[in-house]
Amino acid sequence: MSCLKGFVKMGGENFGFLIWVSSITFLLCLCHGYVPVDNYLINCGSPNNVTVTGRVFISDNLASNLLATPSGILAASNHNSVSDIYQTARIFTGTSKYSFSVARGRHWLRLHFSPFHHQTFQMESAKFSVSSQTHVFLSDFTVKPRVVTKEYYLNVATDHLELTFTPSGNSFAFVNALEVVSVPDTLISGDPPFAGSHGTFQGLSSQALETVHRVNMGGPRVTPDSDTLSRTWETDSEFLVEKNLVKNVSKIPSVDYVTGYATEETAPKSVYGTCNEMNSGANPSSRFNVTWEFEVETGFQYFLRFHFCDVVSKSLNQLFFDLYVDSMMVVRDLDLSTYVNKLAAAYTMDYVTVSPKQSEIIRVSIGPSRLQGVYPNAILNGLEIMKMNNSKGQLSKGTFLTSGSTKKNNVGVIIGATVGSLLALVLLGGFFLIFKKRRRVNHSKTWTPLSTKGAASGSSGTTVASITSNSSYRIPLAAVKEATNSFDENRSIGVGGFGRVYKGVLQDGTQVAVKRGNPKSQQGFAEFKTEIEMLSQFRHRHLVSLIGYCDESKEMILVYEYMKNGTLKSHLYGSGLPSLTWKQRLEICIGSARGLHYLHTGDSKSVIHRDVKSANILLDENLMAKVADFGLSKTGPEIDQTHVSTAVKGSFGYLDPEYFRRQQLTEKSDVYSFGVVMFEVLCARPVIDPTLPREMVNLAEWAMKWQKKGQLEHVIDQSLRGKIVPDSLRKFGETGEKCLADYGVDRPSMGDVLWNLEYALQLQEAGVDCDQEDDNSTNMIGELPLRFNDYNSRGDTSVNVGVVAREGRFGEGEEESCVDDLSGVSMSKVFSQLVKSEGR
Ligand SMILES: *[C@@H]1O[C@H](CO)[C@@H](O)[C@H](O)[C@H]1NC(C)=O
Ligand SMILES: *[C@@H]1O[C@H](CO)[C@@H](O)[C@H](O)[C@H]1NC(C)=O
Repeated sequence: MSCLKGFVKMGGENFGFLIWVSSITFLLCLCHGYVPVDNYLINCGSPNNVTVTGRVFISDNLASNLLATPSGILAASNHNSVSDIYQTARIFTGTSKYSFSVARGRHWLRLHFSPFHHQTFQMESAKFSVSSQTHVFLSDFTVKPRVVTKEYYLNVATDHLELTFTPSGNSFAFVNALEVVSVPDTLISGDPPFAGSHGTFQGLSSQALETVHRVNMGGPRVTPDSDTLSRTWETDSEFLVEKNLVKNVSKIPSVDYVTGYATEETAPKSVYGTCNEMNSGANPSSRFNVTWEFEVETGFQYFLRFHFCDVVSKSLNQLFFDLYVDSMMVVRDLDLSTYVNKLAAAYTMDYVTVSPKQSEIIRVSIGPSRLQGVYPNAILNGLEIMKMNNSKGQLSKGTFLTSGSTKKNNVGVIIGATVGSLLALVLLGGFFLIFKKRRRVNHSKTWTPLSTKGAASGSSGTTVASITSNSSYRIPLAAVKEATNSFDENRSIGVGGFGRVYKGVLQDGTQVAVKRGNPKSQQGFAEFKTEIEMLSQFRHRHLVSLIGYCDESKEMILVYEYMKNGTLKSHLYGSGLPSLTWKQRLEICIGSARGLHYLHTGDSKSVIHRDVKSANILLDENLMAKVADFGLSKTGPEIDQTHVSTAVKGSFGYLDPEYFRRQQLTEKSDVYSFGVVMFEVLCARPVIDPTLPREMVNLAEWAMKWQKKGQLEHVIDQSLRGKIVPDSLRKFGETGEKCLADYGVDRPSMGDVLWNLEYALQLQEAGVDCDQEDDNSTNMIGELPLRFNDYNSRGDTSVNVGVVAREGRFGEGEEESCVDDLSGVSMSKVFSQLVKSEGR
């Protein structure tokens, strides 16, 4: 609960209080003791109420106002035991309707069926449909002689839910019991992304979902009495393609629910506390996937909810794995620590299949990440697969459906599994031998590159050892040249302070960004070294990853993963790219805050980035943010120190005034810069724009002026007008304001910032949801006339030069800095003197 720690620590201050209040409200809404508003449990066709594990099912004969039927017939089984909802049923020979008055919102609908012997009615031959005002749940449905429960998740948009039973042809309908129970509206909401493809599924709120599989990986069956929403979770063994590839883990008491991620309503501890992990046995280098196969009906899309909880790691950022659906990569290098920043914390990920299923099987696999130096393992704790209604609102196409799974594929699966296991054993044996040979080479994760200047002196034993153990990071110059077509100017994608950046393709097809240092640069080598040291120590989903480096022939070349969508800055202004939505911007801020939070709180020592700016936040093909450019970063204060004293470096417009004054560096300097980025994201303008009237030149000052007046909406990006929920903007503005506090001690930690941004996102999503339902879109911000911010039409005029600033906003001293957003016009408005100097 790092957020809890956050506000306790800050208690007494205004900001802390705000977070405190919002957290309380938040906990009240989402946490313990969910009491459903509607809770109809109906025992159909029975004269009596029946209690099943503490839940009372009311007789529909007694609650007769619920039912409108021309011909309802009460039926009881021979056993005539009334202690069980399945011993009685109501039979309908004509169209009949149950009508429940309900609160608007999400509900479970559960239909219980179990045919029994009746003198007149052959219940197993009944054929019928069940529908509501908006959806068809079952059509031409017949029930095998066993217990069948159908469960649906509905959003009821009116104040009553009507359930209509319609016999097919001359047949009849029946039902043994019914449940209509409220579910927290937040249980399943939002716009889940498509699994293994771009985009998100929109319109979940009008969607009815049918639970097809709900599975507790690596643990026992969970029954309704041990689930706060009365769900049943099956065991996963019958779905596992190769059972011997997994190992059960159970640590139920250690499970924690972190506010904002999952609650006991999302899934009980008994689900999160158990998982199946890769059974690597004695061979930690083995690489294989663990796969589950689930039968589904073709022609429908499916909603998938993955439940994760890292109950296997000893420390944070240890477990990285890949997730596949139907052999498509859904998440690469999934590291749960980056989401919840805590072990054994419950976390869910939702996806929707790209299109209606063509095959009768959904294949879900987990496998080890390909990251270097990571122990191969992968886990899954739980999975829900829910069928989504088609465009006609149907969850059933009515082609003589039988309920329950047909077992026709089982023989194939069993043979497959046996052959597969034998094969796996042979392979494992092979891997083991290879691993024994390989193992000696690769353990150290941190290393220093051989110095280009001091190559000759690098003959000491330790240096040689570190070079050998990391030789895989080193890329020959020839390979770099091949990848970039000998540094072809046409491949150039940018120029930074350090040198030119090229797009390249390695021999194995990996797209990379190649940064070639300027050999003349004095500072270059130190930055080169820092960057390699930092990036090889810190691997994180929200930090750009280093693929390798090249120090041959005095070159200083860094090779990174290629980030398709370039810099955050280019998406904000100056490049003509389409505007990002508010949600996308929040997600980008959250991602980069995560990366920085990780740097600041890294497990051994904390690292200060020192050059946080929108041009150093890169976006991948899914617009996921990663922090880049660690050339200036420094290890943070040790325990006996409170700051790192160092020459002032960084980028103008983002610089912490306190750092400027005192030349003392703490994590809070990054927090300040991040605050500037937040306002840049909100206002979509350069942080310094000398072409503007004086009071507008400096974004941080200008935005703070409006924030303090409580009128931030006056200066937001034009394309966000009317799109931001007021509460979300307020939270965002307050958080940005605190980041820009004059003194570091008054600023929040990155962890607090992260938490507040996530809250702002939730407020936005909650607000947009309500808004859709009320069909009222007037409740948005930004209807006021705007002062500026039409930057998108301008060309990118930014220059990246070192300057010496005197009497700047931050006063004293001559400090070297880096100006990023000066268009070169009337800079005297900002500084009395600027001297252009060599790039750093
Ligand atoms: C895991 O499955 C995916 C998708 O089928 C495949 O691309 C990948 O190579 C597999 N990994 C291993 C280690 O078998
Ligand atoms: C599901 O049904 C609802 C209500 O009938 C409809 O608005 C929605 O478009 C349907 N979903 C899909 C994916 O067709």
